[in-house]
Amino acid sequence: MREIALNILDIAENSVKAKASLIEITVTAADNILTVTITDNGKGMSKDFLEKVTDPFTTTRTTRKVGMGIPLFKDAAEMTGGSFEIESEPGRGTRVTARFVIDSIDRAPLGDISDTAVTLLGPDIDFVWVYTVNGRSFTFDTREIKAELGDIPINSPEIISFLRNLLKENIDSINGGTVL
Ligand SMILES: Nc1ncnc2c1ncn2[C@@H]1O[C@H](COP(=O)(O)OP(=O)(O)O)[C@@H](O)[C@H]1O
Ligand SMILES: [Mg+2]
Repeated sequence: MREIALNILDIAENSVKAKASLIEITVTAADNILTVTITDNGKGMSKDFLEKVTDPFTTTRTTRKVGMGIPLFKDAAEMTGGSFEIESEPGRGTRVTARFVIDSIDRAPLGDISDTAVTLLGPDIDFVWVYTVNGRSFTFDTREIKAELGDIPINSPEIISFLRNLLKENIDSINGGTVL
């Protein structure tokens, strides 16, 4: 099964392509439900386009005729008995919400979200990640990191490896032994 962290990467890459400057990603585990939201302030989608965007044959990419990110994420969530929603407003942004039933045998593992987070880092885009397990929470905000870094680019190799470790340690500590 494809790890949920890779689905999140796909959906956040859509936000990057939609020229978002800020993307907020929340991953919340509580009461046997894992909820993932990806919210951006990118160009959004029209109502008509939004209605067919969960169909794999809807894409504005030109390199391949079949779009994949959204239909795959939807299937992955619904297969567990969970749910999927996408809301969007042209000129304002988009929010994707997927809910997974944690103990379903059809649920993919969460995988390495710290890897997803560092892969997306760049000078012109900001991220807020909020990771919550059973009420304990960790927030990672690239605007705060950039303020500390000054002129050092957030995606320089040393900073990436530092941030990957920081994220991993915080996620481990929030998990407290739970493996999602
Ligand atoms: N966050 C978003 N903001 C604006 N448009 C989006 C967003 N996410 C997806 N789209 C539109 O929906 C289409 C389908 O997305 P997706 O299923 O990931 O397939 P693909 O990215 O391969 O086209 C994209 O081509 C894009 O036009
Ligand atoms: Mg995509």
